[in-house]
Amino acid sequence: MSDQDHNSSEVQDFYERYPYPRPVESLDKYRERWQDRGRLRADFHLFWPAKPFSDDHTILIAGCGTSQAAKHAIRWPNAKVTGIDFSATSIAATAELKKKYSLDNLTLHQLPVERATELGSTFDKVVSTGVLHHLPDPDAGLAALRDVLKPGGAMYMMLYAPYGRTGIYMLQEFCRRLGITATDEGIRDLITALGSLPPGHPLETLLREAPDFRHEAALADALLHPQDRAYSVPQVFEFLGRGGMRFGRWLQQAPYSPNCGVIAQLPQAGRLSRLSPAEQYASIELFRGTMVTHSFIAYRDDADETSIDLSGDRWLGYVPIRLPDTICVEERLPDGAAGVLINRTHTYRDIYLPISADEKRMVEAINGVRTIGEIATDISPNVASEFFQKLWLYDQVVFDASGRS
Ligand SMILES: C[S@@+](CC[C@H](N)C(=O)[O-])C[C@H]1O[C@@H](n2cnc3c(N)ncnc32)[C@H](O)[C@@H]1O
Repeated sequence: MSDQDHNSSEVQDFYERYPYPRPVESLDKYRERWQDRGRLRADFHLFWPAKPFSDDHTILIAGCGTSQAAKHAIRWPNAKVTGIDFSATSIAATAELKKKYSLDNLTLHQLPVERATELGSTFDKVVSTGVLHHLPDPDAGLAALRDVLKPGGAMYMMLYAPYGRTGIYMLQEFCRRLGITATDEGIRDLITALGSLPPGHPLETLLREAPDFRHEAALADALLHPQDRAYSVPQVFEFLGRGGMRFGRWLQQAPYSPNCGVIAQLPQAGRLSRLSPAEQYASIELFRGTMVTHSFIAYRDDADETSIDLSGDRWLGYVPIRLPDTICVEERLPDGAAGVLINRTHTYRDIYLPISADEKRMVEAINGVRTIGEIATDISPNVASEFFQKLWLYDQVVFDASGRS
């Protein structure tokens, strides 16, 4: 057995014993949330701003774990969803959900990501979150996923990020030195030890802010994983480049933007603005310092580029769609603001957008049907384009730029 095969079977054995995330029994609330057509449209155009909405795409969930493939099958009932994972336990947990929710649009295979081409199909969307950084050869995993991605398809990935995980890597090393492995006893003792972690330890904030960490599977997944690596922003871009992929966008772009939150107020903001986007993101990751993962959308490098462009005048035909989980707060406002826009999925507290009364009227006019041109009738094009760009950067809206409406 080669070293790589050995590492891979160690990871497989790990997930057979400690499936992660913990299996769930009910997806009722999840199903209810995704009944909302606005949520579905926002999700679609996040990946494909320039394509007209459709819901009959094909989706591969690579390294699907215990529930992710079932969730996508529930979310997109007209799509064909395929879930693969090399852990029999994860596939069995997903199969339970398939049965419980009669998910005829879901197919499951116990298969390593690296052998995705054996499915003999290609997909409009490939989702692989929390998986590739566990492979002995992540490049081989990405190559296999690119092979099954249709030319106009989109890939959604989540990879670990290094700086926010410093405390995790310290404790991993602690466990390695002491020969602590993922056994029930090892995990129990580790939970006890973590209760005595000194204040100020780099792991402390994570433990406090991720209560899930108290559960055995989560703790094992973070601290006792036999194989895990992390990617800084430049490493994400290099990884994609080697894999024939092109970076599309961060799933949440405000935390990486030089124009949002505290970063926009720094004395170095002018210098930042002169860098390329990839260099801006790399610098911001260093300044923020606490990112634990990078979630992003990527496309094949031979696919047409379809970026959002708020110069020229095509954007007047874009239809803004509010992202779910965005709210307009109207209490305790900063001076001169008529509201403050927040995306509740952001974890950085500095990311909020105060808006004027005119801007609030535009936000309230967004209904998923009107174009920007129809919303901003009495606003000068420069002001409107700047404002809608801001809404987009702050993860308040996505655009249907298909020009169909
Ligand atoms: C941290 S879990 C993430 C699960 C799921 N993607 C999610 O976000 O909920 C990682 C999953 O990837 C699977 N996995 C890891 N390496 C794999 C490989 N080489 N081939 C297939 N599955 C793999 C594990 O069995 C596990 O179920």
